[in-house]
Amino acid sequence: MALAIRFHDQHDDQPADSLREDVLAGFAATPKAISPKHFYDQRGSELFEQICLQPEYYPTRTEEQILRDAADDIAALAGPGACLLELGSGASRKVRLLLERLRPASYLGIDISRDFLRSSTQQLAADYPWLEVHAACADFSRPLQLPPELRSSRPLAFFPGSSIGNFTPVEARRFLLNLHGLLPLGGGLLIGVDLIKDQGVLEAAYNDAAGVTAAFNLNLLERIRSELDSDIEPDRFVHRAFYNEALNRIEMHLLSPRAQQVRIEGRRFQFAAGESLHTEISCKYSVESFCDLARSAGFTPRALWTDPQQLFSVHYLQTGPRGPMAVA
Ligand code: TRP
Repeated sequence: MALAIRFHDQHDDQPADSLREDVLAGFAATPKAISPKHFYDQRGSELFEQICLQPEYYPTRTEEQILRDAADDIAALAGPGACLLELGSGASRKVRLLLERLRPASYLGIDISRDFLRSSTQQLAADYPWLEVHAACADFSRPLQLPPELRSSRPLAFFPGSSIGNFTPVEARRFLLNLHGLLPLGGGLLIGVDLIKDQGVLEAAYNDAAGVTAAFNLNLLERIRSELDSDIEPDRFVHRAFYNEALNRIEMHLLSPRAQQVRIEGRRFQFAAGESLHTEISCKYSVESFCDLARSAGFTPRALWTDPQQLFSVHYLQTGPRGPMAVA
């Protein structure tokens, strides 16, 4: 199956270099913080797949059921023969719920985790022989380009998993504006968005009892220890995730219970007792607040599906006729 996919390497700077720069800048900042994209090395991508299976982590199974139920409607909106492009495609599992009904001409999985992307898309190509499968290793938080041979196709963007929530609302708007620039007039964006809900349900989802999310969070420190020159000890930090009600978001931190100093690439960083490294946010939206955000980036909400408990939403957005600049 080795030649079944077309692989486009767009992740120009060495991931290790951007890890080094981001870690040094992030540890020097106040408060200390680091971009969540660095979670996704091979082990991080595998742990994330495990998070999705945890009983407390409702988003994955809820979104999958919504997609299953809505597949016919989605296919009717998008029409056959599109180029389905998935941002942060990971294991390329959710897209399988759509392929038979949607009948796209091609699929492009975009992910930062190179080897994970390669094996997931090869498996997809093996399972769907009629589909032309492409893979692009790229950081979707930066402006994207379609590989040349897909530029004449009709793209339908797919951004599941509420990954949009891992941007702040300001970053999310910028991201949507960029995506708007990549899509033709009337182009579609199918996007999963987690909804505001009971704090206990939210906090349980990011503090699973099996400790998988904690392991995922701490794996960032393992990466720093193994890929950079550092004496950091992951077991001197603990996972913390809580809902920030004022900002409608889950925050994830790695907390240092005791004061400590860590050395990274010849520099020293001090942690006070109780100080944390901020590793992730997961913003939650209401249906209305997300539609407002989409409109502010030039998209028109065309359809919306939710589950009976209103835990999660999937929106079908279309690029508006007047472009983002015309939107107040
Ligand atoms: N997009 C997912 C979310 O916000 C990502 C996610 C889930 C995640 N659990 C996580 C990211 C734990 C980091 C750590 O729900």
